[in-house]
Amino acid sequence: MQKLPEQLIIEGKEYNAGDLFVELIPKHVAVIMDGNGRWATMRNQHRTTGHRAGAETLKLIVHTASKLGIKAITAYAFSTENWKRPKLEVDLLMMLLDKYLTEEIDYWNQNNVKIIFSGDETALADKLQKKMKNAVKTTANNNGLVLNLAINYGSRAEIVRATKKITQEVLEGRIVLEDLDEKHFGEYLYTSGLPEIDLLIRPGGDMRISNFLLWQIAYAEIWLTPIFWPDFNPELFINAIRDFQKRDRRFGGLNSK
Ligand code: IPE
Ligand code: IPE
Ligand code: MG
Repeated sequence: MQKLPEQLIIEGKEYNAGDLFVELIPKHVAVIMDGNGRWATMRNQHRTTGHRAGAETLKLIVHTASKLGIKAITAYAFSTENWKRPKLEVDLLMMLLDKYLTEEIDYWNQNNVKIIFSGDETALADKLQKKMKNAVKTTANNNGLVLNLAINYGSRAEIVRATKKITQEVLEGRIVLEDLDEKHFGEYLYTSGLPEIDLLIRPGGDMRISNFLLWQIAYAEIWLTPIFWPDFNPELFINAIRDFQKRDRRFGGLNSK
């Protein structure tokens, strides 16, 4: 099997990825970007400082992922449950998303990254919705990595939304109930058109899914680390891919190795 080049250079630093197999690179990686608040609190700083640092980490990981040949990253930025947080934190998170979508467009275009979103955007400020539309439009012709940002995303809400859409189409006679299968159902989810999720990464030490991609991670490999997201880095990401390549994915069958 073909191996990756010995050294990967990411933002001027060298990383060793020469033992990774090209054929076994995951196509789609999902990341629960968790631990920003605790990272900041540990440093006696406001939680928002952690969110800011986390945004930088995402940039670095997207860069690493595209160098590794990963096709898509779905990153959990704001959940449908995160509205429960104090208004100040929610407002600052929204401001940060707005800023990120403004400042990073050139970077994504230079790196051939295509932006898409998952989640209910209708609950977001008009200004932010416009930025999201603009990010999608401006990067639509890029054919490198797809960065799917999950904003106001909740997996249960996504499944209910899909069910409603399907029901509507059945009522209108546009689909026949008997034709509905798993593949077809998946086309009504935000992730439609993206490859299956191969790997789910959760930093921050918690061992739960937090309403993220419940349908899509049916057979994803899970990789956890206690490291907080702002301290997550290309080396850890490469480690996650290395571990992934050693997993025996049986999909309910028998050993594949
Ligand atoms: C993840 O970090 C970012 C969002 C949920 C927006 P947290 O803010 O959850 O950080 P912790 O888990 O409290 O440390
Ligand atoms: C999950 O983290 C959501 C995001 C990273 C955006 P949370 O911090 O909201 O998850 P819980 O509350 O610990 O489950
Ligand atoms: Mg958290």
